Amino acid sequence: MHCTRVVAPDIHYVGSSDRRLALFESAFPIPRGVSYNSYLVLDDKTVLLDTVDRSVAPAFLENVDYLLAGKQLDYVIVNHMEPDHAATLQELRLRHPEAVIVATQKALDMIAQFFDSDTAKPCQAVKEGESLCTGKHCFNFVTAPMVHWPEVMVTYDSTSKVLFSADAFGTFGALSGNLFADEYDFERDWLDDARRYYTNIVGKYGVQVQSLLKKASGLDISIICPLHGPIWRQNLSWFISKYSQWATYTPESKSVMIAYASVYGDTENAATILANMLSELGVRNIALYDVSTVHPSLIVSESFRCSHLVFASTTYNMGIFVNMEIALNDLKAHNLQNRTVALIENGSWAPTSGKLMRDIITSMKNMRLLEQTTTLKSSVKPSNLADLSAMAHALAADLL
Ligand code: FEO
Repeated sequence: MHCTRVVAPDIHYVGSSDRRLALFESAFPIPRGVSYNSYLVLDDKTVLLDTVDRSVAPAFLENVDYLLAGKQLDYVIVNHMEPDHAATLQELRLRHPEAVIVATQKALDMIAQFFDSDTAKPCQAVKEGESLCTGKHCFNFVTAPMVHWPEVMVTYDSTSKVLFSADAFGTFGALSGNLFADEYDFERDWLDDARRYYTNIVGKYGVQVQSLLKKASGLDISIICPLHGPIWRQNLSWFISKYSQWATYTPESKSVMIAYASVYGDTENAATILANMLSELGVRNIALYDVSTVHPSLIVSESFRCSHLVFASTTYNMGIFVNMEIALNDLKAHNLQNRTVALIENGSWAPTSGKLMRDIITSMKNMRLLEQTTTLKSSVKPSNLADLSAMAHALAADLL
């Protein structure tokens, strides 16, 4: 049975949510699921904006059929060709061979790469600033390369003042009946997933996201329709300001995250002692993570959130403990910048993790390394407490 929703006059939600997928992009845990959003505009001409992932294809196709009610599908605007949104394009093409695919030339090339070359026919390649009028509605195309792939564009319906924003302003999390962000306590229940989605999926491309935000600031937007997660029709500036902070690598909160890698609990002991010292100095909302028990995507999103970061790692195979090395390289790969960092190393006979962690951190942009470091030899000794205390005082002085 169809399951559609009205977004605005003529504009309908025809997407669906997947609550079974364990790893988004085979990489990111999504215990709250994910939605794949698609929108159908019933104007003089009918227009579908993006399709969906294969996992929700039956619901999507039924929704489109129901709303079209026998009418032909005139246009399919493909804002983003990644298969979580375009995997059902070929199936749709079989049902609606008449529909003209409207996309950037790069997206059309990718459609031919992913499917057979006929899937992209008939088509209309569009460029920045071009538009498509379908009766009452006028769709204006704004390119957004690398948000999150090179072929991406966003589409602005100047009649309804709706921005179809592709991956931008999306989030992990399945929709639970409520369609709009204002129908949820978004800050309490969604913001962490939105941050984890942004930082891990497009965090690397902050410059390109800033460019899109600049273009969007020139549009009169009432509603943002992303390809994942709730639709925004209230308090848009709050979420846009979050995006602006993330895209400029500006810490969201003045707070400290301590991430540690510990084999037998001694490095964990040092991290916990430091956390306690910070608390006694008045630092609040300290985040403390074992990199072996949390996913690297959380370390990435928390590092984007916090202004001060502490990494504590044992030495392993003469290197950084594997889970810590993965996390640090992930931060570097996502272009994290503008943070203050302190390091704790441990090694029973040749501690090297401190130098190796420092090498990664100093190869990143605008990272300030505190001179206060701590070297443990196997376990925390009274002589280490002064170093940890100096580190705690330096962090607290900065934070408070
Ligand atoms: Fe949701 Fe870049 O795909």
